[in-house]
Amino acid sequence: MATSVDSPAFNPKSLAIQAAEQIREATGVETHDIAITLGSGWGGAAKHFGEPRAVIDAGNLAGFHRSEVVGHSGTLSSYQLPNGRNILILGARAHLYQDLGVDAVVHPVRVAANLGVKTLVLTNGAGGIKPTWKPGQPVIISDHINLTATTPLRGATFIDMSEVYSRELRDVALSVDPTLDDGVYVQFRGPQYETPAEVRMARAMGGDIVGMSTALEAIAAREAGLKVLGLSLITNLAAGISPTPLSHAEVLEAGREAEGRLAELLSTIVSRLP
Ligand code: HPA
Repeated sequence: MATSVDSPAFNPKSLAIQAAEQIREATGVETHDIAITLGSGWGGAAKHFGEPRAVIDAGNLAGFHRSEVVGHSGTLSSYQLPNGRNILILGARAHLYQDLGVDAVVHPVRVAANLGVKTLVLTNGAGGIKPTWKPGQPVIISDHINLTATTPLRGATFIDMSEVYSRELRDVALSVDPTLDDGVYVQFRGPQYETPAEVRMARAMGGDIVGMSTALEAIAAREAGLKVLGLSLITNLAAGISPTPLSHAEVLEAGREAEGRLAELLSTIVSRLP
């Protein structure tokens, strides 16, 4: 019998269960506590977590796609922190602009939930709207506006979105660096950067940060009951705020320059997470 799209093999939630089982086998760990996505500029944090107990090629796991964006990695790595916490770095992220579908975008989050993860740290490189911000500055995400016109939820899934980004976890980040500012993240579909008019719209709506990744992941995390901490590296001032045109090379360069400081910040925050 031909496999239909309704078969469990194509069901995103059963693919996440399968991948979680494969990760349990590869790591020998039944439960992970914290999962982290490392966006542009945040990759250096992994070195602070010590030697990984396992590095898994995402291409060998159910439901994952090898990342095709320069600067984004294609592996999942498992670490144990000195405080005993098991953490999983979700390196193989898909973005909506890759046209793999929204289920592929949130697959790593669903896999983490199936591994017992209760706390998800989402990091990204993004454009800054607040004129006082400088490229290379990390900021805390306080809330989001989802302008992708899609959602990972299906059917009548009326989940509460009053506090997507946990107040408690934001306070942990502030305890590490009280100077961190925060802002509302506006997710566009991409892959083109925004026009100055779109950035003005985002600002008029109450947005402070523009990006292409985090809101959909956060929605899936909240559906699964995970607490979310969101951190953005402002890699550039958003279009129209920046006096110069935007480029992916500039975004990567800002990430490389900030990497040491961000690595220290993120690893300290993670070591203090409840
Ligand atoms: N807009 C959207 N996504 C981004 C940006 C931006 O200005 N910079 C890095 N990612």
